[in-house]
Amino acid sequence: MLTAPLTSATLEPDETPSFLGFAMANFPVHPPLTKLPVRREFICQIGVMASAVALLPLTGCEVSELRLPKPVSATLEFDLAKDEYKALVNVGGKAKVTVGGQDIALIRASPTEIIAFQDACAHQQCSISENGQWDATLNILTCTCHQAKFAKDGKVVGQPTDGQKLTTPMKMFKVTFSGTKGSVAT
Ligand code: FES
Repeated sequence: MLTAPLTSATLEPDETPSFLGFAMANFPVHPPLTKLPVRREFICQIGVMASAVALLPLTGCEVSELRLPKPVSATLEFDLAKDEYKALVNVGGKAKVTVGGQDIALIRASPTEIIAFQDACAHQQCSISENGQWDATLNILTCTCHQAKFAKDGKVVGQPTDGQKLTTPMKMFKVTFSGTKGSVAT
C-alpha cells in the first residue's frame, strides 16, 4: 500500500518506464483533498439553503393571494315563508346561507331577533349551522363539537373542553329582521 503522495518527482528522467510511471502518465493522480474545496462547497450549500429560505415568504404570499377569496360586500334577503328559511320560524332554529362567498349561520335568537354567526366555529371550524345550539334564556351559543360558548356578539364566554385556550371571537354579520322578512349583509 502506498503511503507517500504520488508525484512526478518519484521518477528519474532516464528511468525505464515502470508500471507506476505508465500509470502516472496516463491516469493523473488527484491531489489530496484540502480544506479549501470542502469549505467552498459548504459555503455554496449554505448559499443555496439561504436562497431557498429567502424565496419561501415570497412564494407563500403569491400562493395565499391566489387561493384566499377576497371578502365581498353583499346582502341576502330572506323570507321565513320560504322553505329554506322555515327553520327560523322557531326560536333556536338555524339556517345556513352563503353571502358574498361567506358561509353564515342564521339563528333565531328570540321572537323578534335573528342573528348571524360565521358558519365556522372560532375553535376548530365546526359548522355552526350543524353543531351550534342556541340557549335563548342565557343568550349563548354552544358549539357542540367541544362545548365552546359564545355570546350574542360573538365573544368567547366558555372555553372548549379540549384544554385549548380560545380567545378569538366569532365573526358576526349584520341582520335586519321584521315580521317574517329580513336581510343579512357581509
Ligand atoms: S370546533 Fe367548536 S368548540 Fe371546537
